[in-house]
Amino acid sequence: MMRAGAVLFLVWVLAISRFSDGYYPRDSYLIDCGSSSNTTVGGRVFVADSLTLKLLSTSLNVLARASGSAGSSDVSQLYQTARIFTSTSTYTFSISQGGRHWIRLHFAPFDFNGYKMSMANFAVSAGGFVLLSDFSTTSTVMKEFSLNVTSGTLRVIITPSSNSIAFLNALEVVSLSDTLIQDSASLLPSGKYQGLLQTAIETVWRINMGGPTVSSGNDTLSRTWIPDQSFIVSHNLATNSSNIGAVNYVSGGPTPDTAPSTVYGTCTEMNSAGNPNSNFNVTWEFDVNVGFQHLVRFHFCDIVSKALNQLYFNVYMDTSSVVTDLDLSTLSFNVLGAPYYLDLVTSISASNKMRVIVGPYTANGAYPNAILNGLEIMKLNNSVGSLSGDTGVSPSGGAGGNNTGVIVGVVVGVLCSVIFAGFILLYCRRRQQRLASQGLSKSWIPLSTNGGTSHTMGSKYSNGTTITVASNLWYRFQFVAVQDATNNFDESWVIGIGGFGKVYRGEFVDGTKVAVKRGNVHSQQGLAEFRTEIEMLSQFRHRHLVSLIGYCDEKNEMILIYEYMENGTLKSHLYGSGLPSLSWKERLEICIGAARGLHYLHTGYAKAVIHRDVKSANILLDENLMAKVADFGLSKTGPEIDQTHVSTAVKGSFGYLDPEYFRRQQLTEKSDVYSFGVVLLEVLCARPVIDLTLPREKVNLAEWAMKWQKKGQLVQIIDPTLVGKIKPDSLRKYGETAEKCLADFGVDRPSMGDVLWNLEYALQLQEAVIPGDPEENSANMIGELSPLVNNFSREDTSISTTQFEVSSVDDLSMSKVFSQLVKSEGR
Ligand SMILES: *[C@@H]1O[C@H](CO)[C@@H](O)[C@H](O)[C@H]1NC(C)=O
Ligand SMILES: *[C@@H]1O[C@H](CO)[C@@H](O)[C@H](O)[C@H]1NC(C)=O
Ligand SMILES: *[C@@H]1O[C@H](CO)[C@@H](O)[C@H](O)[C@H]1NC(C)=O
Ligand SMILES: *[C@@H]1O[C@H](CO)[C@@H](O)[C@H](O)[C@H]1NC(C)=O
Ligand SMILES: *[C@@H]1O[C@H](CO)[C@@H](O)[C@H](O)[C@H]1NC(C)=O
Ligand SMILES: *[C@@H]1O[C@H](CO)[C@@H](O)[C@H](O)[C@H]1NC(C)=O
Repeated sequence: MMRAGAVLFLVWVLAISRFSDGYYPRDSYLIDCGSSSNTTVGGRVFVADSLTLKLLSTSLNVLARASGSAGSSDVSQLYQTARIFTSTSTYTFSISQGGRHWIRLHFAPFDFNGYKMSMANFAVSAGGFVLLSDFSTTSTVMKEFSLNVTSGTLRVIITPSSNSIAFLNALEVVSLSDTLIQDSASLLPSGKYQGLLQTAIETVWRINMGGPTVSSGNDTLSRTWIPDQSFIVSHNLATNSSNIGAVNYVSGGPTPDTAPSTVYGTCTEMNSAGNPNSNFNVTWEFDVNVGFQHLVRFHFCDIVSKALNQLYFNVYMDTSSVVTDLDLSTLSFNVLGAPYYLDLVTSISASNKMRVIVGPYTANGAYPNAILNGLEIMKLNNSVGSLSGDTGVSPSGGAGGNNTGVIVGVVVGVLCSVIFAGFILLYCRRRQQRLASQGLSKSWIPLSTNGGTSHTMGSKYSNGTTITVASNLWYRFQFVAVQDATNNFDESWVIGIGGFGKVYRGEFVDGTKVAVKRGNVHSQQGLAEFRTEIEMLSQFRHRHLVSLIGYCDEKNEMILIYEYMENGTLKSHLYGSGLPSLSWKERLEICIGAARGLHYLHTGYAKAVIHRDVKSANILLDENLMAKVADFGLSKTGPEIDQTHVSTAVKGSFGYLDPEYFRRQQLTEKSDVYSFGVVLLEVLCARPVIDLTLPREKVNLAEWAMKWQKKGQLVQIIDPTLVGKIKPDSLRKYGETAEKCLADFGVDRPSMGDVLWNLEYALQLQEAVIPGDPEENSANMIGELSPLVNNFSREDTSISTTQFEVSSVDDLSMSKVFSQLVKSEGR
C-alpha cells in the first residue's frame, strides 16, 4: 500500500555498523516518538517523530515531553518524549524482505500536570498477533517481540482501552538474522517442537550469567542482557567467572549474533570451594506468565576449564532433566571456549515461576562443577495468536489475531466516530486529492512537518504544523465520572448558561475543580461546535486561553470539561453581580492578559484563528485574576443577526459585532480587534454594551463612548468607582487604543499585538512617575519600551517549557475543519 513512499523514506536506514558477522538488517525503523530531534542510543539513530509521520495513521498527533531535565544517558534522552494516542492508531512499515523482525516497544511513563501516563491502558498488536493487551506500566520498560513477517507490510496497531489513552516513547522495527531462531527445538519433557518460524515470540528474560549488563550498544542485534544475581536462589552455592578472552567462536557454531562474547565470556558456576565431594545444584528462578509455552535458550561456553574434557554437568528445568552428562568439549567441535547453545520448548506453564538448574555430573569422577553463561526465556504466542498474559488463559472475544480487525473496528467506531470522523474524512479526502493531483495512486505523500529541533514559536509557526500546547492533556471522560463530579448535574451547581447549554461547577474525586459545559443535545449547531471547540482547545494552548481538560461523548452527550476559573467572567466583575469593583491596574492587567490570548490566536499559528465572539463574558479570571480567553467555536449566538440573506451566518454577540463583518461577511482577525475595543470600553465604563433601558443615545456603549472620546471627554463616562484613580495619560492612551480598535474599517484598526503594546504602555503610564510633557514621553517611551515589547514576545514564545505539542495531521485539512474560523493565508 505504501511501498513507493517508503522506498523514499528517510528512516529506512540500511547501514548499521558493528554487525560483526556481516549481518545488516534490511529493515530498520527506529522512531523516537514525540521528539522533534533525532536521538542516538548505543550508536543507533532514533529518528525524530516528525520524520516518521507518514508511517502513522492516527486521528490526532499528541506529543508529550517530560517536564524534568533529561538524565545524562542517551537512553534517558530517548525517554524524555512520548507520543500519546487517543484512538486506535496504526504504524505501517514497508518490509523489504520477509522474515523475523524485532518489534521493540519502549515505555517510560512520566507525569505531567494532571495526567499520569502510568494510568494509560492499551493494547498493541502486530502482524495479526496480540503483543500486549490491557497493558499499563508504572515503570520504564522495553517490551521486545519478534515475529516472522511474510507480507510486504507490517502494521503495528495501538489501541487505547476504553476511556484511556496509549503512549509510546520509542519504537523499533528491525529485521534480524534468519538463523537466530530455527524452526525446531527440543520439547520438554520429550520430543521435538516444530513451528517456531510461524510463532510470535516475546523476550521475557535475557540474562548474562556471572557478568554485568550488556547494553544494546554492545550487542550486534541491539539486545540487552541483564545480570543474573537477583535470580539466583541460593547465593552461597554459586560463584562467577569471567574470561572473555577465552571465547572462541568457531565456524559452524554460534556467532556473536547468537550472543556476544561478553555473555559467553562470563558464567555463574558451582561454588565448590575446592571440595571435590561437592554435590549440589545451582538454581535460578524466573517469573513467567501462566498458560504459555516458552522457548528457553541456554548459552554455554567452557571458560572455566584449563583443558578439554574436564567439565561434565547436568541441566534441569523445574523437576525435569534437560541433559545429563553435558560434555561441552564434544558439543563444541573439541575447541575449548567454543560457544554452544541449547533450545528447549517447555510445555504450557502451570506455575508463574520457572526454575533453571545446573548441577554436577559426578558418575565419571570428574571435578564437580556446573556452569551457565547465558539464558534467554522467550514466550511463544498461544493458540489464539496472543502473547498477552491476560488473554492467555481465557481468550476473551477480542484477543485473537483473527479478531484484531474486529476489535480495532469496534474501538475505532465507538471511540472516534463522533469526534474524529469528520477530521479523518477530510484528511483522507485531502490526501486523495493530492494523490490524484500528483498522479500517484498508492504512495504516501510526505506531509510538511516540523523537522527542526527548536521549540520556539518562531520556528514552529514559520512552517506551521506544530502547535505548542500547555500542560493538561485533554481527555475522554466517562459519563458517570462527569455525573459524579457535578453531583449529577445539580442545578444549584450551574455557574453559567449559554446558547450551547449549561455550565456546571464540578469536582473530581482527586479534588480537581473543573467547569463542565453540557451541550444541549437538541442544539443543531451543537455537534459541529463541540468538535470545533475540542479541536481548537486541544491544539491551542496558552497561559491566556482557558484550557480544556477533557470531554465526554458517551450516550450522545456533548460535554466539555475545562479548568475551573475561580473568579468567573470579567463581565461579572464589571457590573450586575455586586462583586467588589476592580482597580484600574487590575483591569489593565486583565485586558493585557486577554489581549495576549487573542494575539496568540491571531499569530500563534500559520493561519490566524479568529475567535469571533470576544466579549467580557468570554474572558474568565482565575484565582489570581489572571485573564483567560474562553469559548471557541461554541459561540453563544444570542440574538440572531443573520438578517442579511447571506448564506453564511454572521456569528458573534450583539453589541460587540464588527460592523464591517456585519456588512461584508468578510472575516478577519480585525473583527476580534473591534470586539476587543468594545470590551475595553466595557471595562472602563462598567456598563452593558447594549442597555435598552437607557436613553436612545446611550443604548450602544461603543457609539456613546466614541462620542465622548472624540471630544476628549471620555473621563466623563467612566466607572464612578474609578473617578480620580486613573492617571490622565493612562486614560488617554487607553481611550485612543479603544478608539483605534473601533475604526470603521478593519484596515484602520491595529493588530492585537499593537493593542497589547498600547495597553502595556497605558499600564506603564499609570504605574510610572514620568515627569514632563506626556507627548514627549510618548515619543521617548517608544524607545524605552521596546525592550518591553521584546520581553513580551519572548515570553509568549518561550513555550518550550510546556509539555505538549500537538501537530495537525495535515494543516490543509485543518483549515477545512476550521474554514469558518481560520483565515486563509492569502487574505
Ligand atoms: C535524523 O535522521 C534521519 C535518518 O537517519 C536523517 O535523514 C535526518 O537528516 C536526521 N535529522 C537530523 C536533524 O539529524
Ligand atoms: C517465515 O515464514 C515463511 C513462511 O511460513 C517461511 O518460509 C520462512 O522461512 C520464515 N522465515 C523465518 C526467518 O522465520
Ligand atoms: C560475582 O560474585 C561476587 C561474589 O559472589 C559478587 O559480589 C559479584 O556481584 C558477582 N558479579 C557478577 C557480575 O555477578
Ligand atoms: C560496551 O562495553 C564496554 C566495555 O565492556 C563499555 O566500556 C561500554 O560502555 C559499553 N558500551 C555500551 C554502549 O554499553
Ligand atoms: C538437582 O536438581 C534436580 C532437579 O530438581 C534433582 O533431581 C537433583 O536431585 C538435584 N541434585 C542435587 C545434588 O540436589
Ligand atoms: C502461534 O500463532 C500461530 C498463528 O496464529 C499458530 O499457528 C500457532 O499454533 C501459535 N502457537 C502456539 C504455541 O499456539
